[in-house]
Amino acid sequence: MYTGFLKNVWYVALPSHEVAVGKAVARKIMKEPIVFYRDSKGKVAAMRDICPHRGIPLSYGRVVNDQLECPYHGWKFDCTGTCTEIPSLLPDQDLNPNKIKVRSYQVHEAQGIIWVFIGDKNFDMSKAPQPPVMKAFGADVKPKLDFVVNFPCHVDHAVIGLMDPAHGPYVHKSWFWRSEKSMLEKKKKFAPVDFGFSMVRHQPSKNSKAYKLLGGVPTTEITFTLPCVRIEHIEVGARNFYSFTALTPVDEMNTRITQLVYWDIPWLSLLKPAVKKFGHVFLGQDMDAVTKQQEGLRYDPSLMLIKDADTQAKWYYALKTEYHEHLEQNREFQHPVKETELRWRS
Ligand code: FES
Ligand SMILES: [Fe+2]
Repeated sequence: MYTGFLKNVWYVALPSHEVAVGKAVARKIMKEPIVFYRDSKGKVAAMRDICPHRGIPLSYGRVVNDQLECPYHGWKFDCTGTCTEIPSLLPDQDLNPNKIKVRSYQVHEAQGIIWVFIGDKNFDMSKAPQPPVMKAFGADVKPKLDFVVNFPCHVDHAVIGLMDPAHGPYVHKSWFWRSEKSMLEKKKKFAPVDFGFSMVRHQPSKNSKAYKLLGGVPTTEITFTLPCVRIEHIEVGARNFYSFTALTPVDEMNTRITQLVYWDIPWLSLLKPAVKKFGHVFLGQDMDAVTKQQEGLRYDPSLMLIKDADTQAKWYYALKTEYHEHLEQNREFQHPVKETELRWRS
């Protein structure tokens, strides 16, 4: 089982609105400091957040003429990480700034999300899982709500904690959600998708009051894809609601959760404050659970994954391990998930 961080994949870096035109923003991803900035044309660039001259984070600098200027001695770097100017040089001093480079990263932006590719040099990105798209909406759609929170745990625990179907009645005990008294037997069909799996479209559980608020007969599809993106798509007639959750490893003990919510249901916008509150409470409950879990994990206990409630967690590990190993061994990816029906009580 591979428990390291997956590379040669797209990670969610941050929501688009966090990088304004002409602004530089720092984020740590897989233990690497990365600076993101947006130029005057709206294009986002990403590079290592360390000046090659004396190591100060470039994110303390400013964006000048679509380039990032180091705050210490004013060296400038373009969107490819190439140094374009060293202000202290005299015309007769023959140091070519262009030979100095900061590591840059591929960036992809769509649907209000900035993705960054963390991978080996010259890796063929077409072989990687592609950033998933919320198909009912175009590339320009913006999330109606966003929550970015840090879970103080390794990405694996954050992923399996969020996809775990059995913790609901215990962790998310709220008037608007399930209680252990309303536990029912669940039976759901799952099918493999590219680098992931999905809970096949179905009518959501009858014991979720929150779903009833949507009105009509909603159907839900939940898809998980590598490295760690979960998309829940609820269709109510011609209307759509998406809950997008992506996890980004910050370091061994921290994981950033980016939760975005999209919808085109007009009356739901009236309930925006309630949906926002719901999101905060919900994520807070998960965070509380994984934070307490750390107290036990400190003793490095052996853990269990049981059927069928933990089968999705097993698939996560299997997909991740296979992705890592097929690249190491330079062979075809063999999908570890088969079409299955899973049953559990929650
Ligand atoms: S440290 Fe960046 S220009 Fe000197
Ligand atoms: Fe949860």
